[in-house]
Amino acid sequence: MNLRTVLPLSAIIAATGLAALAVSAGAAPPAPAGDQSFKQRCQMCHALTPGGASGPLAPNLRGVVGRKAGSTAFKTYSPALKGSSIVWNAAKLDAYLAAPGKTVPGTRMVIAVSDPAQRKAIIAYLATQR
Ligand code: HEC
Repeated sequence: MNLRTVLPLSAIIAATGLAALAVSAGAAPPAPAGDQSFKQRCQMCHALTPGGASGPLAPNLRGVVGRKAGSTAFKTYSPALKGSSIVWNAAKLDAYLAAPGKTVPGTRMVIAVSDPAQRKAIIAYLATQR
């Protein structure tokens, strides 16, 4: 391939790439709000109150971003999560919420969030709950 064929090709790729971007920007559904998603998908098990006790089902998630996994007063953590030595940051939370049992084999949390945009919104919301 010589320069004369490479240049127009790359111009076409750039142009169609831009067109695809414009289409997806127009068609993308609005991302669900993190607080709403938390209420719908997490709150039945997880408390999120400042200084609050953990519920009977799951640990309190207030301040979870930056915290060591399995470190609240919640009584029935799995040994797997307690011994995981994870410190929760956005990337770790994203992996855990996408596939809890793959990220921490033996965890007792079975709820997964398959939509990356919804995970991102929930994690951003959790990061504000310090
Ligand atoms: C059916 C109950 C249930 C639901 C719903 C649930 N979880 Fe959990 N979650 C748990 C349990 C139980 C644990 C403790 C797991 C363990 O000890 O292995 C846990 C642990 C966690 C942890 C680790 C906490 C820590 O102290 O290390 C995070 C983070 C978490 N869940 C996030 C979420 C999010 C975000 C949602 C909503 C998308 C959610 N969970 C929905 C039951 C639930």
